[in-house]
Amino acid sequence: MFGVKISGLGMYIPTKKVSNFDLEKIMDTTDEWIYQRTGIKYRYIAENGNTTSDLALKASQEAIANSNVNSIDYIIVATNSPDYIIPATSSVLQGKLGINAGSLDVFSGCTAFVYALIVASSLIKSNMAKNVLLVGSETISKYLDWEDRTVSILLGDGAGAFVLSQVEDPNVGIIDANVGTDGSKAELIFIPVGGTKEPFYQQAVEEKKVYLKMQGREVFKTVVSLIPEEIKKLLDKNGLKPNDVNLYIFHQANIRIINAIVESLGIDEKRVYNNIEVYANTSAASVPIAFYESYKKGMVKEGDLVLFSAFGAGLTWANVLWKL
Ligand SMILES: CC(C)(COP(=O)(O)OP(=O)(O)OC[C@H]1O[C@@H](n2cnc3c(N)ncnc32)[C@H](O)[C@@H]1OP(=O)(O)O)[C@@H](O)C(=O)NCCC(=O)NCCS
Repeated sequence: MFGVKISGLGMYIPTKKVSNFDLEKIMDTTDEWIYQRTGIKYRYIAENGNTTSDLALKASQEAIANSNVNSIDYIIVATNSPDYIIPATSSVLQGKLGINAGSLDVFSGCTAFVYALIVASSLIKSNMAKNVLLVGSETISKYLDWEDRTVSILLGDGAGAFVLSQVEDPNVGIIDANVGTDGSKAELIFIPVGGTKEPFYQQAVEEKKVYLKMQGREVFKTVVSLIPEEIKKLLDKNGLKPNDVNLYIFHQANIRIINAIVESLGIDEKRVYNNIEVYANTSAASVPIAFYESYKKGMVKEGDLVLFSAFGAGLTWANVLWKL
């Protein structure tokens, strides 16, 4: 067995910044309501012509440039807003990067990047790959109904990339993970039309069935009890207390959810990095973007323990314990 090192990091945020005050002008909402309920002040939106693979390309180029690797075996894209239904966005990204590599997408809600981190690490640990480019990228704004104030205020676009590389020391990289799914809650976060259950039809646009729907209150209730229990199980299994972890990177869905998890586990707030205020929920891109920023701010160093934690559509959840 081998270990896994994060050998390169990149991120990209589109240029169009939209504040809560901008949203006040187009829907019945207020900055105060949004900030108090979610912790969000801004989000960035990809301009019309920009796709998920465009954002992924910019984040990937930065990650590859600072990684010093000269070959990539797999490109894995975690996304819920693919360029096409067919083919995978990772294939489109491969074409733009011009790297000779296999490609696959992971499509498991806002948890997708953390799931993909487990997949990529497994390929490297088992010697099936030496280097993997892993990108969380979203232009999820394209699925938003700007007349639906319950969902559209929550999300934003962006991309974050890791280059993961093999190292001899098996104790570096992924230490352990726990994952789960409750498929009976599949329609808590979903797009009704466009898949094989209800293929696209003309009136679906007028009926607004091509947009992201969410029962936010139900999601909130489910995850605030579930995620702390799951993290505790993972820490206990590894003989760790919450404050033995140097840095927690939570999926940036709602600051009240994150604060509830932090309080429930008694985590020292200095060990948590949040940026939801600036970027909103960037779905599968939120975890790599938050890690990129915390790393650049010097919050962690080699040898530190990081816990990556995410939940989302499915419902799915995943927690990964990682040694830098
Ligand atoms: C969406 C969320 C912010 C809503 O907050 P909430 O406290 O549950 O609010 P509710 O949905 O109960 O709505 C309360 C009221 O605010 C109103 N409201 C909803 N959105 C609003 C908005 N953007 N602006 C102003 N009022 C709004 C509702 O219509 C409701 O009004 P009513 O009491 O007159 O019926 C919250 O449930 C949440 O963040 N859930 C998690 C969602 C999430 O993270 N999903 C991603 C998972 S990856």
